[in-house]
Amino acid sequence: MRSEVSSKILGCGMAVPPKILTNHDLEKMVDTSDTWITERTGIKERHILGDEEVISTYAIKAAREALERAKVSPDELNLIICATLTPDFLMPSLSILLQKGLSATKAGAFDLSATCSGFLYALSLADQIIRNNPHWKILVVGAEALTRKTNWEDRTTCVLFGDGAGAVVLGGVEKDKGGIIDFILGADGSNWHLLTLKGGGSAYFPFDKRLPKEEYYIRMQGREVFKIATRMMEKIALELLERNQITAKDLGLVIPHQANLRIIEYLRERLELPKDKVFVNIQRYGNTSAASIPIALYEAEKEGRLKEGDLVLMVAFGGGFTFAGLLMRW
Ligand code: ACO
Repeated sequence: MRSEVSSKILGCGMAVPPKILTNHDLEKMVDTSDTWITERTGIKERHILGDEEVISTYAIKAAREALERAKVSPDELNLIICATLTPDFLMPSLSILLQKGLSATKAGAFDLSATCSGFLYALSLADQIIRNNPHWKILVVGAEALTRKTNWEDRTTCVLFGDGAGAVVLGGVEKDKGGIIDFILGADGSNWHLLTLKGGGSAYFPFDKRLPKEEYYIRMQGREVFKIATRMMEKIALELLERNQITAKDLGLVIPHQANLRIIEYLRERLELPKDKVFVNIQRYGNTSAASIPIALYEAEKEGRLKEGDLVLMVAFGGGFTFAGLLMRW
């Protein structure tokens, strides 16, 4: 039997590096054009880390804002989960740097790796923990520095990614006060080779000569990934709606992972929703992987697009492939 407690987002935060790389800047780096990037992806610019910067700076900044808005102090946190593919170090984890940076003295901390679906994986996990520990406060962060893993000579990938962090504080509320209703987590490794970042793992020792230089960066067969992404985003969204006996028209807002405007538009058309029901900010940030949904959530709230009681659907997919959907009442 499910408990009478739900978990609710008590506050959101976000932070991105100030440095901006525009499509026109990219025109000077590779054989591409603002027109191609805009038409094929919807991206106009992205924020990127400066050479001396680290993503933990922005993860901590986003977390501080989420805590302030939630009116929760760092020492009230029981757990920190950080979804990331690109932590500052492999050890210690990014969540440990958050624990230290925030002085969250009573919190456990771990990173979670589920590529662009990572934030929804982390949020779903935190939801289940809070249902069993209603007084807990959990910080869930999506933080990513994909431009550190970008091959700036490969025009098929280097135009896509941006850096940033988004954070939420999750706490328990009585069920009739809203919160997370349901989620789906999925994975399919049968096509893992379409999107890879091989260098830096344990298959090859550091600077292994067997591995070409390009394998230390993200490699992707974009067209194939696109097909899988559109199919899975739709499938997850429809499955969540159907099993909760609602239709897309009942939704206040859809917040999809921001990977490509054409993927988002495809989902919007399949759900037969007007433009104002689907949140888009890819034009300013590019694909920030695990950070994309919490950044979008933050901006949607700031813009007044989330009203108390609204049903909100979030959907993501990413390398692996991983998939996730989450339905909540704001
Ligand atoms: N500028 C100009 N031309 C380009 C560029 C560029 N930046 N990139 C590719 N092209 C060219 C190609 O070389 C190709 O030329 P050709 O026809 O002469 O061979 C042509 O444009 C079409 O290439 P496609 O790859 O078919 O272009 P497509 O329309 O599929 O767009 C894109 C490419 C944007 C990558 C798209 O496929 C996509 O968004 N895929 C999904 C990406 C994604 O969501 N990834 C998952 C998340 S990332 C993660 O998990 C870390």
